[in-house]
Amino acid sequence: MVTVVVGTQWGDEGKGKVIDYLAEKFDIIARYQGGANAGHTVVVNKKKYIFHLIPSGILYPKKICVIGNGVVIDPVALLEEIQYLKKNGIEVESKLFIAENAHVTLPYHKILDKVEDKFRGKGQLGTTGRGIGTTYTDKFGRIGIRVIDFIDEDVFMEKLKIALELKNYLFREYYKEEILKPEKIFDEYKHYRKEIKKFVINTAVFLNEKIEEGKKILAEGAQGTFLDIDFGTYPYVTASNPISGGACIGLGISPKKIEKIIGVAKAYTTRVGMGPFPTEIKDDIGEKLRKIGNEFGATTGRPRRCGWFDATLVKFACIVNGIDEIILTKLDVLTGFEKIKIGVGYKYKGEIINFYPFSSKIFSNCEVIYEEVEGWEDDISDFKSYKELPKNVKKYIEKIEEKIGIKIAKISTGSARGQIIEKN
Ligand code: IMP
Repeated sequence: MVTVVVGTQWGDEGKGKVIDYLAEKFDIIARYQGGANAGHTVVVNKKKYIFHLIPSGILYPKKICVIGNGVVIDPVALLEEIQYLKKNGIEVESKLFIAENAHVTLPYHKILDKVEDKFRGKGQLGTTGRGIGTTYTDKFGRIGIRVIDFIDEDVFMEKLKIALELKNYLFREYYKEEILKPEKIFDEYKHYRKEIKKFVINTAVFLNEKIEEGKKILAEGAQGTFLDIDFGTYPYVTASNPISGGACIGLGISPKKIEKIIGVAKAYTTRVGMGPFPTEIKDDIGEKLRKIGNEFGATTGRPRRCGWFDATLVKFACIVNGIDEIILTKLDVLTGFEKIKIGVGYKYKGEIINFYPFSSKIFSNCEVIYEEVEGWEDDISDFKSYKELPKNVKKYIEKIEEKIGIKIAKISTGSARGQIIEKN
């Protein structure tokens, strides 16, 4: 059966570490959406790996990894990642499978992503510039190129010409960018087509066969609930569905096969790029969180905006994802803060709001209602059991549980594999 791991905030919750920790008990790790905008960091034996497309389960010698149809694949980023892993002695061939029907990110997607965001002016989103939104736009606009078409020379050339007709018109007439020649892209990508071909299969059939055989699948979501195109802080979102429902579409698995949904929540909140963020801390405390938590984007290196834990948001994430349990990450970062705040609701024009509002006007202008707990001084990064944790740490954890209405099953207290505490 299938377990899904989802982010409950704006991404960067520490899903890479959690997937790496959980992967040991699964046979297959399958990524279901997003693209090379993601940056999942894993530390094993003091070595740091950052994954953008390949599930971090690849670090285990015997696990199978799948990049599902819901993912948008940049062949350049993928090959770079494969080569990096090989250089570090990690076997990739025979362990990695890529969906035939995933869509491919090509040079014009990356150029357009940057140009379009610039042209948005005041409405700029601050995308990662990896061509994610533009690849998904082509998918829905029915001029996308799927992996199966990309690796077939004739079909690729035919589709590339059709796509470039439109893109070059935009480049020439509107954005005043250089136009792109299909022949040039075709030749440049020859090597990528050859290298990627060996990994390509019908992953929907493969995964369903494995489920029938009784294999255990871990479905890996990228980004987080509030970057979801439907449920996030639109338009400041990514162009896919990171929520658990996205796993069915992005892998070709029936909802009947999903057994468990695990939410990952950071002990505070961060967001990269533009968009409303009510619990953001704009003073020294925010700066301190960024520094201690090393809150810089794993993909773009941009400083992440930091703020207090927003229980109203995570509670909503628990509902739309159907979360069974939470893994709380980076709790060690909060050591040394005198008081710790938790957002428990919002106030807008004198009215109290106890849920996450879809109105960007309300969400951008509301005041947060906070509850406060006492901080702690002890370094908790090497604690092994919940019982041993300082009283104030437990109070904070229990306050979060009370506010979000879901139990915290595990607590991560550092980036290494072993730094995780089972709560029960
Ligand atoms: P895009 O996904 O590159 O289109 O970017 C859209 C928004 O999502 C921007 O605000 C990005 O900073 C944000 N975003 C995309 N991927 C991630 C991620 O993996 N972690 C955190 N934020 C992300």
